Amino acid sequence: MHYLNKKNAVISIAAGYSQEDLIKKIKNRGYAVIGVDKNPNAMGFKFCDECVVASTHNSEPIIKELEKLKNRWNFAGIIVQSSGLPAITAGEIARHFNLKFISPDIARIVINKDKLIPELNKNGVSAPKVKVISRREDVNVDFPPPYFVKPSQSFLTHTGMGMIEDRSNLSLAVEDAIKASENGKVNVEQFVSGVDVLSIDWVWKNKIIHVATLEEISSGPPHFYGLGWKMPVSSVFEKVAKDIQKQFTESFGIDNSIVETGMKIYQDKAYIYEASLDLGGDGVPDVLLPASLGYDLFEDGISVALGEAPLGPKKNVTPSYLRFLLQSEMKKNTEKMFEEIKNKFGGKKADFKELPAKMNNEFRATAVLLTSDTVEELDLKINDFEKWLKIK
Ligand SMILES: Nc1ncnc2c1ncn2[C@@H]1O[C@H](COP(=O)(O)OP(=O)(O)O)[C@@H](O)[C@H]1O
Ligand SMILES: [Mg+2]
Repeated sequence: MHYLNKKNAVISIAAGYSQEDLIKKIKNRGYAVIGVDKNPNAMGFKFCDECVVASTHNSEPIIKELEKLKNRWNFAGIIVQSSGLPAITAGEIARHFNLKFISPDIARIVINKDKLIPELNKNGVSAPKVKVISRREDVNVDFPPPYFVKPSQSFLTHTGMGMIEDRSNLSLAVEDAIKASENGKVNVEQFVSGVDVLSIDWVWKNKIIHVATLEEISSGPPHFYGLGWKMPVSSVFEKVAKDIQKQFTESFGIDNSIVETGMKIYQDKAYIYEASLDLGGDGVPDVLLPASLGYDLFEDGISVALGEAPLGPKKNVTPSYLRFLLQSEMKKNTEKMFEEIKNKFGGKKADFKELPAKMNNEFRATAVLLTSDTVEELDLKINDFEKWLKIK
């Protein structure tokens, strides 16, 4: 009767270096971890009780392997901290084994920008106008420039994308974006100006439990590199983001999931341009949210995977600025640089697991965290810091 003693296990879709912390936290909650990763030497496998070597982009081979493991383990939940397609994979696995996770049919629309933006427009949720173009298809766009061209699904963040002001440059930009596109498709979107904002929320039993609203710092044209995060945002932005997040999740029927929605806010109007259904990265769950809210998104993620309600953060926000430094922004003497950051701005080095990231020909070299007691103080500090950074 050995099956009566089956131990509870949580399935982690991806088990790399980036997922190590999450995997350890699941173990600390007393659950075994079944890790899935296509890399047989994935760093997170060290902490897993079972390792499934398979691509996180394709559910069928994973389900096959899990079928072999189900006599030994009781699958208690499934969790994803890896951006893009793995959320669809997890949805399909969850459906097969009857675990709690967002439906893969919904995930497939949300994760693919070529499906998400048209669906938002169809549902009357504010988003840029869009024309999706497939490989070898004629470039025909029936709304005027400026455009923002990007891969509909990309493996490299902030790559192969940019603003196009003149129609005559559109074909080349589309070609470029196709090269960085995982599904051979490109979004030609209406260019929306404004501030980049990310709303992070749990949807639990059809109710939204808000985690945080962040401003995404962008290098702007020509490359639109992500340079980090700032929070809190203004109360107007807070409200606008909250309203559109509600419209979005309700009209798509999103439930039992984390939802991280990227939008432009111009004055008091938001336009959604991307969304993800995993616990996220880029220093947000591991550096920014703990520093700013004293909140552990992973712990709530594990709860939700197990079918328990997420707690959400407490209300107090420490105004925080997490700034990635690009290779080109580094000062010659890095030791002295961090000393000055500490002495002048009270800032500290805040490297996180997936920090090293390549974008076109740039490289994320390090990250710095600045905090203040008030928003006004933080804004002044950021101003001084950005000025100081430009001095060579
Ligand atoms: N339609 C748009 N209009 C203007 N800027 C956009 C638009 N879509 C995206 N951007 C800018 O490009 C950045 C990267 O786009 P995003 O869709 O978030 O790609 P990634 O998958 O690399 O995160 C955004 O943070 C935003 O600053
Ligand atoms: Mg983005």
